[in-house]
Amino acid sequence: MLHERVIEKVVLVLYSLYLLTFTNGIISSKIGVNYGRLGNNLPSPYESIRYIRNMRAGRVKLYDANPEVLKLLSGTHIQVSIMVTNDLISSVASSQEQANQWVLENVLAYYPDTMIRYVLVGNEVLSYNDKKMWDDLVPAMRNIKTAIRAHNINNIKIGTPLAMDMLASSYPPSSGRFRPEVEHVMLPLLNFLNGTKGFFFLDVYPYFPWSSDPSSISLDFALFRNGNSSYQDPESRLVYTNLLDQMLDSVNFAMEKLGYNNIRMAIAETGWPNGGDIDEPGANVYNAAVYNRYVVQKITANPPIGTPARPGTIIPTFIFSLYNENRKTGRGTERNWGLLNSSGRPMYEIDLTGKHNSSSYHDTLPLPTNNTPYRGKLWCVVAEGVDNSDQLINAAQFACGQGNGTCDALQPEGECYQPFTPRDHANYAFSSNWAKFKNTGATCYFNGLAMQTTEDPSHDSCRFPSVIV
Ligand SMILES: *[C@@H]1O[C@H](CO)[C@@H](O)[C@H](O)[C@H]1NC(C)=O
Ligand SMILES: *[C@@H]1O[C@H](CO)[C@@H](O)[C@H](O)[C@H]1NC(C)=O
Ligand SMILES: *[C@@H]1O[C@H](CO)[C@@H](O)[C@H](O)[C@H]1NC(C)=O
Repeated sequence: MLHERVIEKVVLVLYSLYLLTFTNGIISSKIGVNYGRLGNNLPSPYESIRYIRNMRAGRVKLYDANPEVLKLLSGTHIQVSIMVTNDLISSVASSQEQANQWVLENVLAYYPDTMIRYVLVGNEVLSYNDKKMWDDLVPAMRNIKTAIRAHNINNIKIGTPLAMDMLASSYPPSSGRFRPEVEHVMLPLLNFLNGTKGFFFLDVYPYFPWSSDPSSISLDFALFRNGNSSYQDPESRLVYTNLLDQMLDSVNFAMEKLGYNNIRMAIAETGWPNGGDIDEPGANVYNAAVYNRYVVQKITANPPIGTPARPGTIIPTFIFSLYNENRKTGRGTERNWGLLNSSGRPMYEIDLTGKHNSSSYHDTLPLPTNNTPYRGKLWCVVAEGVDNSDQLINAAQFACGQGNGTCDALQPEGECYQPFTPRDHANYAFSSNWAKFKNTGATCYFNGLAMQTTEDPSHDSCRFPSVIV
């Protein structure tokens, strides 16, 4: 009898120890990195996992469930977040069988040797205008949850990363509320997260509000360097010393307005671009280092800091991103979020464990030169190092093909017909296309063949159209 009691007690103690470490494991403040792979020049998965380990990241987030990567992560102590890609959401939502199959192939095949801890269903689903996908999101999450629970697995959380554009208002933070048209998705989503003690995963980038309005928002506030000045929310009376906290709390307040004040936040993506186009202020190595270092300091602080509206909470965080990724389209900053360059070399020193914390840390970095917006004319020309004529001819044809007289000057009678080379014609076509269509979303990218310049390429009687910023 006595023995049985003792054994019972030992088992109980062991069980609570297990629960403790287990809980800590789930919500530790270890910093994670996003392992995006949209580059054609990136190190192999094998090397990438080595880099991730060497930089002592505690977690890694994938944008899929790549078998090679998941195998390579097995036996490491890195917690892993995998993703059901957007194109699979509807089928996973439509049948439990499909969800079971997905879990079988993408979770059970690697778990527990690979420490899968999060399955994220979709990526920024509400940022796409696809109402069917919106409606299928929560049913897909439920089906994945059911499939995982059927195997008695309790340490994998289901979530979905959403972007700030789900909010109708975010400033001041207390005004935070969801867009009316996403509310019918938010209500079941919050209900699911509350019921499963899941995290609200947020993609949150202070860089974007700051860079779109750098004269109203101070760069120091965006970069956690606010000294003692601060902003008090007129409604909540809460005091803010940085933009990230404001953005996080605007989502906290939005959730509260729908009746949920206890759902924990996780940062699925945050970061600062280390480079970009000329018309993108503040995108440089210095600011990226300062921002990401302060994020690490904040998130790894012990005891945890949380946010003004949720003080003391641990916020699991994934920095975006492991690499600069050259195959991402859009503006220059899109391709420059890496902690590492595409050869796997650090863009700047950073200690993801948060232990290195000296004030001279930033002193070795080159000082930024683009923290105030460039004002003047810009042209879009063939990027340095591009010498493939076929590619240039195709890209120029594409640029001219958008119409609106983009390439009239390149016709045989036109003032820019000479010199008749693929490079010269592409220079003109890129500039003219960008000048004509920038307002409707065109970028100076052209598959990586183009770059912005402040130098007027006009020559002889050939005037290049410019963009004025
Ligand atoms: C959230 O979950 C808790 C239990 O964990 C429950 O008491 C509470 O009522 C739930 N909130 C809502 C709004 O459903
Ligand atoms: C902030 O205030 C504290 C206490 O008043 C002071 O010691 C510190 O030097 C101030 N820091 C800055 C950056 O102004
Ligand atoms: C990455 O950085 C290393 C060291 O600074 C440099 O030699 C290499 O050329 C860089 N690679 C790229 C693709 O920029």
